[in-house]
Amino acid sequence: MMNTIQENRTSNGSFEFPGRNESCWCGSEKKYKRCHMEEDQRKMHQYKNRPDLVYPKIARSEEFIKGMEATCGLACATLQMVEEKLTEGITTNQIDQWVHEFILDNRAIPAPLNYNGYPKSICTSLNEVVCHGIPDETVIKEGDILNVDVTCILDGYFGDTNKTFLIGNCSDEAVKITRVAEECLRIGIEATKPYGHIGDIGAAIQKYAHSMNCSVVEKFVGHGIGQRFHQEPQVPHFGQKGAGRLITPGMFFTIEPMINLGKKGVNILDDRWTAVTEDGKLSAQFEHTLHITETEVRILTQ
Ligand code: MF3
Ligand code: CO
Ligand code: CO
Repeated sequence: MMNTIQENRTSNGSFEFPGRNESCWCGSEKKYKRCHMEEDQRKMHQYKNRPDLVYPKIARSEEFIKGMEATCGLACATLQMVEEKLTEGITTNQIDQWVHEFILDNRAIPAPLNYNGYPKSICTSLNEVVCHGIPDETVIKEGDILNVDVTCILDGYFGDTNKTFLIGNCSDEAVKITRVAEECLRIGIEATKPYGHIGDIGAAIQKYAHSMNCSVVEKFVGHGIGQRFHQEPQVPHFGQKGAGRLITPGMFFTIEPMINLGKKGVNILDDRWTAVTEDGKLSAQFEHTLHITETEVRILTQ
């Protein structure tokens, strides 16, 4: 999750408008000049020549797309490896070690390690921890819910995914918050459409979470991803349908709703990373990295 705005200008992604006689970017098959050209020019003026705010048609090379597929595939395989080995009685440090070794064995690097001073290779967020829990000597026990968030860097590309695991027999509340969070990610992905709006995603997530009497954390958001960990666009898990930036082909971003059983407020502990619920109630999260094409939304981390 990110909570800052950063610019997105990478070597393999550039913003480009079609030529006036080329076909329009919207898929109408009309010439650009007979379709969105005037509207784009008006908006370019309005948004002070920030094409990324008007129409971020991001050109992605085959190499870039392949790179993202590979790193996301590895992130997914890493989480699967964790799922297979996970059991009560082990420490979160132990999981950190498994992941560290697995990622290095696959000629990649764990992205969190040393990221803005973060000390470990993954985040392990237990029970009331919302996100960014730091692995330590805490022993996992039956009835816990544990989120494991894996991000790897393979050939310079970042792939980011997380899941919340139920450890053995869990309370009804623990099962509920975990299922609701998983469903929120599914619903958020379903609301994601090429040429839809970023706000559609959060609106759908929020509607479902609230219908289940749960709350949506607002302090952390999903994020653009590629050759950097966190970049534009920001992807809030709350909001309004039709609001926010256009979702356009070439975008890669995460959706990663953090859903609370109680209130949405979070506190950051003295370690400056661990985010916990203000009311001490349970929180759960799921995350995928997505690729937007002209016609579809591809889940790269499954
Ligand atoms: N993987 C987290 C995300 O989904 C970010 C973790 S940053 C770290 O964006 F430094 F805490 F690892
Ligand atoms: Co993320
Ligand atoms: Co993550």
